Amino acid sequence: MVFYNFFKKTKNDKKTSDLDGKIEVIPSHIAIIMDGNGRWAKKRAMPRIAGHQEGMKTVRKIARVADELGVKVLTLYAFSTENWKRPKTEVDYLMSLPEKFLNDFLPEMMERNICVQMIGEKDGLPEHTKRAINNAMEKTKNNTGLILNFALNYGSRAEIVKAMKNIMADVQEGKLSIEAITEETVNQYLMTSHLPEPDLLIRTSGEVRLSNFMLWQLAYTEFWFTDTLWPDFDEEKFLEAIYAYQRRNRRYGGLKGEELY
Ligand code: FPP
Repeated sequence: MVFYNFFKKTKNDKKTSDLDGKIEVIPSHIAIIMDGNGRWAKKRAMPRIAGHQEGMKTVRKIARVADELGVKVLTLYAFSTENWKRPKTEVDYLMSLPEKFLNDFLPEMMERNICVQMIGEKDGLPEHTKRAINNAMEKTKNNTGLILNFALNYGSRAEIVKAMKNIMADVQEGKLSIEAITEETVNQYLMTSHLPEPDLLIRTSGEVRLSNFMLWQLAYTEFWFTDTLWPDFDEEKFLEAIYAYQRRNRRYGGLKGEELY
């Protein structure tokens, strides 16, 4: 298939692809809102959890392809602070997925030099979920390849509120002056302080909203939406998103190239 040739090339020729004769850059950080598991299952008259199980397989597929392409960070929105409102059986199942996924995929992640990280309130997770995440984070902490970053029990507004409280506490304690607060200061108080901002955001399943995901971090990110449900999302679709990204003209509010004349 076309994209496997593409991978071989990018693996040797790190970070670039030859698209339409141009040398283009692979996005460093890709964030994905994985949506549509429930609908995928419903279409097949299956329980919603079957959709999540299938969705977990897609996570593996996309982590592999991101690694092959030389993406630096892949952030996956796996469970929001609002997802606790779902029926207990579904929440319990979702909370068992990191354990299943990380246990199965850990040997391959070690081979691939993938580093597991997470953003979100870890303390609000069940013990067994926390243990699985901690274990994977510990085992992969020295890996220098793709950062596979799970957003779990994550809500962007809560993250921003927490950052504001910590900034205020540091101001009160005299560690920080109000005048010295800049956008970079805010960045440093967010859970993503160590990561580059996402270059590309993908949302599957036809929904066109952010659902409280990385509101600050996505300020200049390119968005790409697809009707494909997450369990049906695959390498080809992922590449389609990257190709679309490569055709975008990122101006960050300014002008570029010929537009200057
Ligand atoms: C949204 O689809 C999806 C979720 C809330 C869960 C996403 C989780 C996975 C893809 C598996 C996670 C895997 C790991 C490794 C942690 P939905 O249920 O809202 O779908 P719907 O909108 O069609 O109902």
